[in-house]
Amino acid sequence: MALNIILLGPPGAGKGTQAAHLVATHAMVQLSTGDMLRAAVKAGTPVGLQAKAVMEAGELVSDEIVSALIDDNLAAMPDSAGAIFDGYPRTAAQAHALDAILTARGRKLAFVIELDVDEDALVDRITGRFTCATCGEGYHDRHKMPAVADSCDKCGGHEFKRRPDDNAETVRTRMAEYRAKTAPILPIYEERGLVRRVDGMADMADVSAAIEAILQSA
Ligand code: AP5
Ligand code: MG
Repeated sequence: MALNIILLGPPGAGKGTQAAHLVATHAMVQLSTGDMLRAAVKAGTPVGLQAKAVMEAGELVSDEIVSALIDDNLAAMPDSAGAIFDGYPRTAAQAHALDAILTARGRKLAFVIELDVDEDALVDRITGRFTCATCGEGYHDRHKMPAVADSCDKCGGHEFKRRPDDNAETVRTRMAEYRAKTAPILPIYEERGLVRRVDGMADMADVSAAIEAILQSA
């Protein structure tokens, strides 16, 4: 049966990094509401127009918008593929909406994997982050520069981009939103015995190995 998991953790915890690894190694699909919203902003859709300023301020977009995005994207997935929820749910209302969405689609949540991290280190991670504008490969000013300057290791592209919300001030708001609205949803899943904690400060490969061990325990 397809495994459906939530990756939970504050901004910069490594949700996107680990989701990309799972997509590459398993028949799983990454459902990142942040990526969906950024695509909507870029395309100038009505959702994008509503979300742009909220995201740039580091605040949360409405529960209705993000739950509708998740429902639409899940509907487009083959039943055989597991879903990785990356950055969703982020509020109690979204957690309840996800329950209803999964039930309607005959899916079950296998695990909620919490990436346990040190918030101070996350500001460094986030403010140094950039990606290839062509293929989306991730880089970091201090930890992971392209092997050849100004050339993407993966696709050879020469253009790179940074997220407008990746500045120190907005990161603090994003962290505060996480503490106030997202961390409090953990008990919902703890009561169901679904939460597994992983040390998100370990090397990326070690984090991936810890997540793999959890998936194997299903
Ligand atoms: P979203 O895109 O979800 O951003 P976020 O939660 O702030 O998280 P990030 O994407 O910044 O971090 P990440 O955990 O994916 O880390 P990454 O792997 O990139 O949301 C953006 C905005 O959209 C929100 O602020 C909100 O406005 C809106 N939004 C989205 N979803 C919403 C929802 N459900 N409800 C309402 N609003 C919503 O890693 C970060 C960096 O660290 C990278 O450079 C990476 O290379 C590096 N790194 C990763 N792992 C390691 C490691 N183990 N060691 C060293 N470096 C590492
Ligand atoms: Mg991300």
